[in-house]
Amino acid sequence: MSTPETFQIPVETAEIYESKFVPALFADWAPHVVDMGDVTVGQSVLDVACGTGIVARTAAERVGLEGRVVGVDLNPSMLSVAERVCPGVELRQADVSELPFANGTFDAVLCQMALMFFPDRAIAISEMGRVVKPQGTAVVMVPSSLDAQPAYRLLVELAARHAGPDAIAMLSAYWACGDLDELLGTVRAAGLEVLSTRTRMGTCRFESIDDFVAVEVESTPVLERLTDEQYNALRREANDVLGEFTDADGRALVPIEGHLVAARPL
Ligand SMILES: C[S@@+](CC[C@H](N)C(=O)[O-])C[C@H]1O[C@@H](n2cnc3c(N)ncnc32)[C@H](O)[C@@H]1O
Repeated sequence: MSTPETFQIPVETAEIYESKFVPALFADWAPHVVDMGDVTVGQSVLDVACGTGIVARTAAERVGLEGRVVGVDLNPSMLSVAERVCPGVELRQADVSELPFANGTFDAVLCQMALMFFPDRAIAISEMGRVVKPQGTAVVMVPSSLDAQPAYRLLVELAARHAGPDAIAMLSAYWACGDLDELLGTVRAAGLEVLSTRTRMGTCRFESIDDFVAVEVESTPVLERLTDEQYNALRREANDVLGEFTDADGRALVPIEGHLVAARPL
């Protein structure tokens, strides 16, 4: 059996994640996750697998000074960057399978782009359901399956030609929860009632196709899984393969489809 991907990166990579990957991709989704959780002034919100905290700080703006926002993540590197960029957010190192909070603590429990990295997704969702209030909302956001991703599909195919199995496993892991019916089945099996779903096409914005590949590699665990030769080959071919996803100025506009699911405990 292969080792599950958990998206663990050292602090230098977490810094690049925050400065490059968050503005290019994750920041575009965070307001939609917060909206799906009906987050309003004065509420208490938990960001599960918060990374460097883009959802947590988006929620913090929404709840204001009377509210409370907590972020948890497994990775101390992500949390150390979050400490700096999320003033006013409480941060805790914790595993989603054992959230260190009492039942019914939060009005909203949000999880963006992380479910696919949890070894037991049903336990993770049931923990999210346990710590949300009975009338609160748990939100899970995941990228759709690879066959719904016109640009990322080409990137993964390109990597499959040049990279080794470890790098390909990581680049393939993002899409593992992308079948909506399967995802809803997992949410229900975890003891939650599905309130609503939304499928959205977002756009990641990079300076160029080369920048797209560089950010995908250098701010993720893929970096340590490629030789220089493999990385150079990827960068060399990426422009030919992904050229259609550029604007007149050469900037890369990369579509990414994702699902948002809002649920609450039964
Ligand atoms: C792709 S990042 C997404 C981070 C953040 N939600 C965002 O939108 O930028 C995935 C995150 O999941 C975290 N993670 C993976 N497994 C975890 C677990 N079992 N418990 C808590 N966090 C976990 C990783 O450390 C990483 O920060």
